[in-house]
Amino acid sequence: MDRFPAVVAAGPGPAGLVELGEEDLPAGSVTIEVSHSSLNYKDGLAVTGTGKVIRSFPLTCGIDLAGTVRSSIDPAWRPGDAVLATGCGLGETHPGGYTTLQRVPGEWLVRIPDRLDARRAMALGTAGFTAMLAARAIEGGASGDDGHSAGGDGEVLVTGAGGGVGSVAVAVLSRLGYRVVASTGRPELHGYLTGLGAAEIIGRAGLGTSPVRPLQPERWRGVVDTVGGTILANALAQSRRDGVVAACGLAGSSDLATTVFPFILRGVRLAGVDSVWRPAGERLTTWTQLAEVLPGEVIDGFSTVEPMSAIAGLAGRVLGGEIRGRVVIDTAR
Ligand SMILES: NC(=O)c1ccc[n+]([C@@H]2O[C@H](COP(=O)([O-])OP(=O)(O)OC[C@H]3O[C@@H](n4cnc5c(N)ncnc54)[C@H](OP(=O)(O)O)[C@@H]3O)[C@@H](O)[C@H]2O)c1
Repeated sequence: MDRFPAVVAAGPGPAGLVELGEEDLPAGSVTIEVSHSSLNYKDGLAVTGTGKVIRSFPLTCGIDLAGTVRSSIDPAWRPGDAVLATGCGLGETHPGGYTTLQRVPGEWLVRIPDRLDARRAMALGTAGFTAMLAARAIEGGASGDDGHSAGGDGEVLVTGAGGGVGSVAVAVLSRLGYRVVASTGRPELHGYLTGLGAAEIIGRAGLGTSPVRPLQPERWRGVVDTVGGTILANALAQSRRDGVVAACGLAGSSDLATTVFPFILRGVRLAGVDSVWRPAGERLTTWTQLAEVLPGEVIDGFSTVEPMSAIAGLAGRVLGGEIRGRVVIDTAR
């Protein structure tokens, strides 16, 4: 019987590279030859064992996967189909994508859009999916019912712009026509972010002022926030009337100290983004949009490919905020 490599957390603490057999695969209707996964902040927590990401041990890490169906008892999928899965408990409660073979329930799978392949799908991964969900929330707020024209109207802010969610958000929102202002703590990324479509770069410190004045001059039509804390509180206080602030992450802090004033005096909407559990229809629509909005060469511009054997070092770097854009994990190396 085939043996294959996988990054497994045997218990609390760091995960390691081991060999598994087919008998180790979980229950599920579709078996996938996984060619690529990706590196997300949550993967960094899981692989280093520093966050309570994994709920039962032992567990294969990796919250994303992409590859080809090897076998299926789900009539929706056939051998050879190109598929991806993100979230749905992968790498948290169900064995994940840091492996070359995995089995999942068929309803978690999304067909890889024609314009993408497995590598580019994972260059987007959970981070890209999250960025598109946030962009959709902002677009929904620009539906026209509230006096704003739909799409591409006004300035949007992306925080933690040099990271995975941030980089994809900059690329997506600029292609949707918005004037994107990217906030980063890394001045060396200015050229990179401008290349992705940012019209203006502001330093992280500029948004981090404390105490936060509850209502500041109105600027943002929309915000994609990956950082939380004081930066999110300031973004709310600077949002324009009926602006939408999509709260995606906590790279800086899980705290949020704000007032009700942006909500009751400016109609600002705080939109939560949860990428893990989305209905199948929304997942397909969101992936289709991602593939339509982002040309392949743009995806290649914010992503690099690394071998799965390097995962321990990569996990530490993503937690340290040192990764630029997205890292695809080549599971075969
Ligand atoms: N809601 C969801 O479903 C969902 C999905 C995916 C990710 N997330 C969350 O979104 C966040 C970003 O994920 P990611 O995969 O994009 O991670 P990432 O690639 O590590 O990016 C995070 C970025 O945040 C900034 N940052 C890091 N530490 C910071 C600090 N102490 N203060 C202020 N900014 C800081 C850095 O950007 P600069 O260097 O450019 O400043 C860093 O590149 C994480 O909290 C993650 O858990 C949530």
